[in-house]
Amino acid sequence: MERLQKVIADAGVASRRKAEELILNGQVRVNGEVIKTLGVKVSGNDIVEVQGVMIDREKVKKYYLLNKPRGVISSVHDDKNRPTVVDYIDTDVRIYPVGRLDYDTTGLILLTNDGELANLLTHPRNKIPKTYIAKIEGLLNKDDIERLRRGIMIDGRRVVIEDFKIRDKDFDKKTSLIEITIIEGRNHIVKRIFESLKHPVIRLSRIKIAFLEIGKLKSGEYRELTIKEVKKLYSLK
Ligand code: URA
Repeated sequence: MERLQKVIADAGVASRRKAEELILNGQVRVNGEVIKTLGVKVSGNDIVEVQGVMIDREKVKKYYLLNKPRGVISSVHDDKNRPTVVDYIDTDVRIYPVGRLDYDTTGLILLTNDGELANLLTHPRNKIPKTYIAKIEGLLNKDDIERLRRGIMIDGRRVVIEDFKIRDKDFDKKTSLIEITIIEGRNHIVKRIFESLKHPVIRLSRIKIAFLEIGKLKSGEYRELTIKEVKKLYSLK
């Protein structure tokens, strides 16, 4: 359920303030009935008309940034009835995740109904950087670091590592925390990089896509992208 004025504003019909005015002036109908008070919420099934013109809800583009928890599937639907990323977003618009994170990977994932932007962000040509924090087994030695610098061969194709930093080392537990930025979108790519170095990933989290960061969002929390952010993403093409 979403507030009526937000639905009108999202449709690009009017600003949020103007939408409120239209409601108060009796120019908005929901399911044929004039609504003159603010704060009414509508669902995707409700028919909203502004000055007699129906809003096409499917045309409204929505963009969400979710901090995906562990144990959640990056798809719209799961045959085994496990929770999906879409379950976390309170919207009536049919959105889907942009790319995927593994079931046990946490962190930043975008969801939208904007196919054009989803394609832009996932197409290798656009070289969109993604940054992860990987907790790995063991400590990297000089040879590992050199291999990361040169890029790692996976299935006969080199994965270029844009950047990596050793964030922390635990000498007692023999684990390390590595920040790694890649532009690759192949499945399980970060796990496969460290597997090939014989340092399996224990935990993985994505913290950044292009300029978008997870920020203060807690696990399971989300926010909508701003118009400015959406425009900036389009400019990455
Ligand atoms: N690389 C992985 O191995 N897993 C993810 O979920 C994302 C990138």
